[in-house]
Amino acid sequence: YNADTKGMLKALWELPEQCARAWELGMAADVSPLDDLRQVVVTGLGGSAIGGDLLRVYAAQRLDVPVVVNRDYVLPEFVGPHTLVFAVSYSGNTEETLSAYAQAREKGASLVVLTTGGKLGEMARNDGVPVITVPGGIAPRSATGYLFIPTLAVLYRMGLLPDLSHEVAECVSLLQSMREELKPEVPRDSNQAKMLAASFHNRIPVIWGSSGTTEVVAQRWKGQINENAKAPACWNVFPELNHNELVGFEFPGELLRRLYVVILRDPQDHPRVQKRFAITREIMEGAVAGVVEIMARGSDALARMYSLVYIGDYASVYLAMLYGVDPGPVRVIDTLKARLA
Ligand code: F6R
Repeated sequence: YNADTKGMLKALWELPEQCARAWELGMAADVSPLDDLRQVVVTGLGGSAIGGDLLRVYAAQRLDVPVVVNRDYVLPEFVGPHTLVFAVSYSGNTEETLSAYAQAREKGASLVVLTTGGKLGEMARNDGVPVITVPGGIAPRSATGYLFIPTLAVLYRMGLLPDLSHEVAECVSLLQSMREELKPEVPRDSNQAKMLAASFHNRIPVIWGSSGTTEVVAQRWKGQINENAKAPACWNVFPELNHNELVGFEFPGELLRRLYVVILRDPQDHPRVQKRFAITREIMEGAVAGVVEIMARGSDALARMYSLVYIGDYASVYLAMLYGVDPGPVRVIDTLKARLA
């Protein structure tokens, strides 16, 4: 393994402990309950935004107010004094997030910042905005624990969510046991992540979730394949994809033989959606290179979401290794940011 691959695998191995530490960081944040809160907004991009989606999906059953994820310079119109905005940027220098932060200030929203530092950390400290400073030195996409779990602790401290320390502990111990099955020392025939990487190799992965907990995980897998393996991938969501994407699988010829489909499942998927998985699979099975279903593990939704995230994260690094690319650097993103400067 080269240094980048080693670094990425190390960050993956340490994800369970990162999640545990992230809860503590959130619990230590200098926040107090808010009166008449009407919405929560998470604003960020890329690896710093996916935690917002994890929060949106996880909190949907548990929070009385909606969670909206904003991946833009501009915040939604409704943001105002009754909105809590989490401004999240691992580097602290993402221009869209800096712009959204300034807007949240202008609109009188309550803010909490999650960052390693950068301009965002500096601005927040000058403005007296609570900052959760997370450890640096890894890729933003390797820091989902740090960039998501503190928001759960903050919402608990504000009286908006229950104490989730047991749920976080379940997630941590599940990931600790899963890494023993997913680590590089485990050979392909008993390593689910390596098998997936082999199935994805020289094909386009198509990742499907459902509008419950797996929707965000499908998006995460796609992003990880893009950024770690430097390869294209697609994602979509049941039941919506049954109303459009499925029709594309009638395409004649060899093109579809390049697609490998993964259906991410959760034991609590809607019964009608479960039936849709089976029928969809039957309809398209012969047309594509393969279809596999992966079931989430764990009892609470946090563990179930992370169990699937973890398999996808490992698979994307193994795919990078099959392609002979470094999973770490995302040079094209750096180039684009530099050209915009
Ligand atoms: C993920 C990654 C990008 C960044 C995004 C925003 O590893 O490199 O998706 O997360 O460009 O940058 P930050 O997270 O620094 O705000």
